Amino acid sequence: MCGIIGYTGRENGIPKIVRGLSVLEYRGYDSAGIAARTESGTEIIKCRGRIGTLCERLAETPISSQTAIGHTRWATHGVPSDVNAHPHRAGRVTLVHNGIIENYSELCEELSGRGWRAVSETDTEVAAALIAEEYERTDSPLISIRNACSRMVGSYAFAIIFEDVQGVIFAVRRGSPLLIGRSTDGSYLASDMTALLPFTRQYYPLAEGEIACLSADEIEINNGAISHSPTWQVSALTAESAQKGGYSHFMLKEIFEQPEALRKVLSPRLRTPLPDFSGDSIEPDFWRGITSFQIVACGSATHAGMVGAHFIERYARIPVTVHTASEYRYSPPLAAEGTAVLLISQSGETADTLAALRYARSQGLPTLAIVNAVETSIAREADRRIYTYAGPEIAVATTKGYATQVAALALIAIAAGLARGALSASAGETLSNSLLHSAPDAITEMLTRRGEIASFAQRLKSHAHVFFIGRGLDYSLALEAALKLKEISYIHAEAYAAGELKHGTISLIEQGTPVAAITTLPALSAKTESNIREVASRGADVIRISADESENAIRVANGSEFAAFFSAMTACQLLAFETALARGCDIDKPRNLAKSVTVE
Ligand code: F6R
Repeated sequence: MCGIIGYTGRENGIPKIVRGLSVLEYRGYDSAGIAARTESGTEIIKCRGRIGTLCERLAETPISSQTAIGHTRWATHGVPSDVNAHPHRAGRVTLVHNGIIENYSELCEELSGRGWRAVSETDTEVAAALIAEEYERTDSPLISIRNACSRMVGSYAFAIIFEDVQGVIFAVRRGSPLLIGRSTDGSYLASDMTALLPFTRQYYPLAEGEIACLSADEIEINNGAISHSPTWQVSALTAESAQKGGYSHFMLKEIFEQPEALRKVLSPRLRTPLPDFSGDSIEPDFWRGITSFQIVACGSATHAGMVGAHFIERYARIPVTVHTASEYRYSPPLAAEGTAVLLISQSGETADTLAALRYARSQGLPTLAIVNAVETSIAREADRRIYTYAGPEIAVATTKGYATQVAALALIAIAAGLARGALSASAGETLSNSLLHSAPDAITEMLTRRGEIASFAQRLKSHAHVFFIGRGLDYSLALEAALKLKEISYIHAEAYAAGELKHGTISLIEQGTPVAAITTLPALSAKTESNIREVASRGADVIRISADESENAIRVANGSEFAAFFSAMTACQLLAFETALARGCDIDKPRNLAKSVTVE
């Protein structure tokens, strides 16, 4: 949600800010802006629309600056417009913001009482005004930021320029991510690593409560008591990993990266034929002590959690409940002795998942997180973490992020099953082998059939509604398939447990309504077949995504449960992608959405 970037150094920062913003655009893309220090003061150029529109504005008014901050927005307070775009200025303060100031209306009222007048409808402008007011009073950037932040409720990452402090950018965060970077030409800050990668791999994740002071040659971190130099870390990612690499879309690239992504999450934990999480500091005793799991996540990560719940209950015999993170704190499920909370997040920054994690910790529950982006809030704050190593996921709709979450959960199920004696070593070995080898191979095989799936997409592309049905594991996959289709193609898609459709929703089936039926599980396919007949006899156009030999089907792998699942998953992702492509949608940046939802 919103991307921020900053540079201060010895070179012209404008091209760097633009480059960083175009990498960050996936975090929000309804408006963009830059504030740059020039000889005449701080100049702001901002507009509604994408980075391309900002570049047109910059071409009309070329500027050069060695100290600049930039922002790409996902609107929360106020419609996307030129005036609501960041940066925002108040007095001697100009800033960009990612997050939400929840008490902004009280602060706004208070500031208005003292004569301040807002120009925009944003919460961000209020934050700028509060810092500016404190700056007038204290004349200290550090104290004014600290005082103002202590008044704000909510989440934020700010990059701040003070009019009379030349060549310096200040940064502070709470709840929203912010990384500081260092290179030979100067100092950088950004919302995520991918935006730093074109310039540097050295980074420092700013901790909550710290204020960074960046100048060309020096970066100081102040934690309220003392100032210190950052302890630099080196990212394992490369700038190429955040580029399209010859693919037309990031989403397509990420779908095609899945076989390798699965190997990356599994191989380090499968050096012997059996799962071993000791590299993640998780020993078999941990699984033995668990009496139940609560899985908590948002969106696709919840769907991955549902698939994981099937595996964990079946292979480890541990009861699992799956919860939507935004509900978890407000309707907390009862936790018996031995309950562990398993949080799943690709970005590691999703606000609701983070809040659920904090709630679980406050209740004294042990927490384990499955996270892709390293050094993120959820990874840092959980008691234990398992990284999925899928590399940067840029397309807003998750694919390899979801696939690696499912793979990690399957491996947890096997490891826990072995540790608890619910699985024999030979059964564990067969399952591990199938996960490490058959699953990536099944994805690779499905990827060769893009053309065939495109022809099925032709049957969906002109419809307003599509239904997905399945039973058991296939129902969990159907939920993800429907989400993928609706978010990128804007076709209304719903998933139903196959037996449930006739309890009401079947009334929506008319001549030609597409129904995609997922049947990868031999034990359940006869039952789902009856449900297929029910909708077919009412005129539905049925597309089978099936391990069985049948007409009108996308035939998926039938070697093992894991192979069938990942094969069908790939088919569903490609079906959504090809349908959106046929409809001419903006696949990597669907309307109203943004990657990494850092607001509740
Ligand atoms: C859908 C999608 C979202 C995310 C959800 C959680 O394609 O990407 O539903 O799965 O916002 O995000 P993370 O995993 O980053 O916590």
